[in-house]
Amino acid sequence: MSTVSSPARGQWTSKTGFVLAAAGSAIGLGNIWRFPYVVYENGGGAFLIPYFIAIATAALPILILEYALGHKYQTGAPFAFRGIRKAWESLGWFQVLVSFVIATYYTVILGWCLSYIVFSFGQQWGDDTAAFFIGEYLGTSEGGDPSGFWDVGGLRLGVLLPVVVAWGLIFWILKRGVSRGIELASKVLMPALIVMLVIIVVRAVTLDGATTGLNVLFTPDFGALSDPAVWIAAYGQVFFSMSIAFSIMIAYSSYLPRKTDLTNSGAIVGLSNAGFEFLAAIGVFAVLGFLAAAQGAEVTEVAGNGGIGLAFIAFPQIINTLPGLNAVFGVLFFGTLFFAGLTSAVSILECVIAAVREKFGASRTTAVSVVVGAAAIASLLYVTRGGLFYLDTVDYFFNNFGLVISGLLEVILIAWIARQLGPLRDHVNATSYLRVGTGWTISLAAITPVLLLVMTLYNVWNELREPYEGYPRSGLLALGWLLVLAAVVLAFVASRIRDRGPAWLAAGNSSPNAEME
Ligand code: ALA
Repeated sequence: MSTVSSPARGQWTSKTGFVLAAAGSAIGLGNIWRFPYVVYENGGGAFLIPYFIAIATAALPILILEYALGHKYQTGAPFAFRGIRKAWESLGWFQVLVSFVIATYYTVILGWCLSYIVFSFGQQWGDDTAAFFIGEYLGTSEGGDPSGFWDVGGLRLGVLLPVVVAWGLIFWILKRGVSRGIELASKVLMPALIVMLVIIVVRAVTLDGATTGLNVLFTPDFGALSDPAVWIAAYGQVFFSMSIAFSIMIAYSSYLPRKTDLTNSGAIVGLSNAGFEFLAAIGVFAVLGFLAAAQGAEVTEVAGNGGIGLAFIAFPQIINTLPGLNAVFGVLFFGTLFFAGLTSAVSILECVIAAVREKFGASRTTAVSVVVGAAAIASLLYVTRGGLFYLDTVDYFFNNFGLVISGLLEVILIAWIARQLGPLRDHVNATSYLRVGTGWTISLAAITPVLLLVMTLYNVWNELREPYEGYPRSGLLALGWLLVLAAVVLAFVASRIRDRGPAWLAAGNSSPNAEME
């Protein structure tokens, strides 16, 4: 029987290649700039308890579920969900659209990293790193004050150039295909990334004041555990960080050969992702401790305002203060961020490309050109003077509403509506040495849906109570609520477009290997 898993569709050449690509997707910007700050803001060492519980009860079970979906149906998310319940193809398209939107701003941050690699030579950001980043480099309207939100301004050429380079690299990797592009890039970049991070961490922990930073990171505030927001932060972090509910892992596992151990691959990817972010947190807080000691300030004062501030404002300050080899440290840090983000950006677009190819029967070159071209054009919004506001808003809404809702609908569909957890569990166990059992089923049928529902309600309530970052309501409506709604509507439209679907669906089978089941 002919299936969509033909050579033209692409396949990983080895399990190692797949694991590296999946780890490359998981390990990204979220691990380096988001995790350390989330730990610190949510009870320090005590946060690790909800974090590991979130990994065990939601992230790993969903990761293995998505591997099972892609592996069983050998398609991207829209057709995998269609294989489960015809009407649910739209959920796959919603996930694909969420990924598409995330890719549009994720790549802009990669462009910033490229600029900062260059700026590391001679510390071109000067002494006031905040004024340089917000004012001189991004040219943010009103110096970053929310009142400048709608002051779009023109394109910033200094930002546009590196962003175009990042898009060019992404296009090139994706056009080369699954094994010659994504797998090869992951095989080169992932080991390099680990070596670079280890060098950073070793240097960081040997700096004066490093232990002060590590104490702040790891001193547990157990009181935080009674705060629901801390648990929500833990679940939010593992979703973004493990690339789940993006439709990525479904597409990636659809390129696996039939005989592949799914649970073992999932465990390796999940644990290496957690290990990487743990190491990154140690490195980040050690250097923050160093900076605080050098300035005679508290670590809390030098940490910047979270993700973007930490990487592009606090780190340049740290690099300025280092006793030597400043440029090398800068290149290593921003290079690590860039490599980590590049393999993730590729995966965030590959799931879109897989879906477009399957739906429209497009060649890889056409699909890559259309998807990357459209995403690159959309990303110009973030290259304007108002770009930082738009990036921050879209990131907040698509993480808190796009990803969480798409994960919630995924588990409700599979566990409760289609009742497919049993067959998918059998599918996983048929190929894996480590078998999944009742714990997996309970996590997906009960723990995850309840938690994701609570998270969604909490996030909506939070947003209605107080506008995010004090941005104008009109901005949050247009780039938050309406954009998420547009993704929902477009997902329905896409699922209604007529197509033949993969051969097994057209033949009326329930999956590519229906006759074997
Ligand atoms: N998983 C990717 C990250 O952490 C998207 O950045």
